[in-house]
Amino acid sequence: ARLKLKNELLSVKPPQEQKDGASFGFENYKSTVSITVVGASGDLAKKKIFPALFALYYEGWLPEHFTVVGYARSKMTDTELRTMVYKTLTCRVDQRENCAEKIDKFLERCFYHSGQYDSLENFAELDKNLKKHEAGRVSNRLFYLSIPPNIFINAVKCASLSASAANGWTRVIVEKPFGRDSESSGALTKALKQYLDEDQIFRIDHYLGKELVENLSVLRFSNLVFEPLWSRQYIRNVQFIFSEDFGTEGRGGYFDHYGIMRNIMQNHLLQIMALFAMETPVSLDAEDIRNEKVKVLRSMRPLVFDDVVIGQYKGDSRGGVSYPGYTDDKTVPKDSLTPTFAAASFFIDNSRWDGVPFLMKAGKALHTRRAEIRVQFKHVPGNIYNRDIGTDFDLTTNELVIRVQPDEGIYLKINNKVPGLGMRLDRGHLNLLYSARYSHEIPDAYERLLLDAIEGERRLFIRSDELDAAWSLFTPVLRELEEKKIKPEYYLYGSRGPKGAHDLASRFYVQWG
Ligand code: NDP
Ligand code: BG6
Repeated sequence: ARLKLKNELLSVKPPQEQKDGASFGFENYKSTVSITVVGASGDLAKKKIFPALFALYYEGWLPEHFTVVGYARSKMTDTELRTMVYKTLTCRVDQRENCAEKIDKFLERCFYHSGQYDSLENFAELDKNLKKHEAGRVSNRLFYLSIPPNIFINAVKCASLSASAANGWTRVIVEKPFGRDSESSGALTKALKQYLDEDQIFRIDHYLGKELVENLSVLRFSNLVFEPLWSRQYIRNVQFIFSEDFGTEGRGGYFDHYGIMRNIMQNHLLQIMALFAMETPVSLDAEDIRNEKVKVLRSMRPLVFDDVVIGQYKGDSRGGVSYPGYTDDKTVPKDSLTPTFAAASFFIDNSRWDGVPFLMKAGKALHTRRAEIRVQFKHVPGNIYNRDIGTDFDLTTNELVIRVQPDEGIYLKINNKVPGLGMRLDRGHLNLLYSARYSHEIPDAYERLLLDAIEGERRLFIRSDELDAAWSLFTPVLRELEEKKIKPEYYLYGSRGPKGAHDLASRFYVQWG
């Protein structure tokens, strides 16, 4: 489909109706896309957005006519923006052939416009500037809100009223956090919808742009060996694990307002879980997929206090190196109770998943960096090897591991005979390691998502009813934890996290993978 889309983007084609009122795929030489990075001076813009745009350009995914405009309050000239962007282009393609030449060509398409986020006037000036670059072509405009959430609405209002595309589509990518509970998220959605239709809002969750997450549906729905096993009949439990081996370095102030449950679980892990557990969608159409995700989210029991364990990391020193604790960060209050670790158990009350524990674990400053889905299968009923060989070899149950990062891969743990004349069993792995199997580099999640937004593909973006359902699951328990000022269990920087997570899993006879 992407190849088809790419051809459509690059070739001259008859107009294509878009839901958000526009004309992309329209005779390409007559149309243009203007991408405005709002908050261009900030961390995310430098770290992710500009490098992703360059990688798309390098690989020929961007349409022939496009312009990138950085917008922020800081004063900068076009040249200064280009210098800033140049320094950040340490993306996955920066060492390739002709890269320097391509960088120059890309930077020629980058401009800067300084303005306030709440000024209709400043956005009207931006509109003029964009028109200049659009040079009379059909204009399609994408705004990427890479700014703190308290200024989202002002920026959307100004962009929509003063700088919408006159004759093409206008889309807005909104970064998380989408509120901090059901109420604030609902208010944000309501405010956004004053200025935009739902079709114009692209709520980004960059985990949905990760290769292995996108592959989840392919693995499940196009392999006979998996889909029939995907239910309570064969699956004992499913685990969604996120761990980072570094703390909140540099983002403590932001993090303290949200905590790990809002920062990782309610969005990244829950989105993966919805994709994992949903029923087969009617088609690959965005609405069909999102309908199924909403259904599964609504079939889940909201978390209660007993389903959750929270932790916070403390400083440690090892091998002459000292690692700071969470509250050692100057931007974090000394008495902060904000969790930097959480584990939680979910149940989905539908016929496919009744009784199967879905466990989530997310933490910062742990011993390793990884994001994984682990599916633990049931025992083989009446397994003759258990009976006849005895208990000295503990036959493992099968486990499917989808490693989202790092070292992307999929492996299945199986029982296998050790070669030889005797009968000894061993645990083996059927292993699909991406780096060994595929020579292509894996694109950054932001590349996929930016391209989707340009193409009007909404499959990997979050619809407002999905967001409501996601918040309904977390809001009551988040409120309770905060109202009761529950103290997190402390764990050492670089450790495996608090013991409570182990106890939580044991309640369901589960061991974390
Ligand atoms: P920054 O704090 O770097 O802010 C981006 C820009 O917004 C700044 O360069 C500044 O530009 C302007 N700005 C900052 N604070 C204010 C303020 N109080 N009032 C008005 N303008 C302000 O944010 P990030 O780049 O880190 O993040 C942008 C968005 O992306 C946020 O919503 C964040 O939650 C989200 N996000 C960020 C991630 C990251 O890794 N950084 C990861 C995932 C999501 P200027 O002063 O020039 O106007
Ligand atoms: C962001 C969180 O959404 O995801 C960060 O706000 C976290 O706290 C980041 O570090 C992890 O993303 P990735 O792609 O580096 O795993």
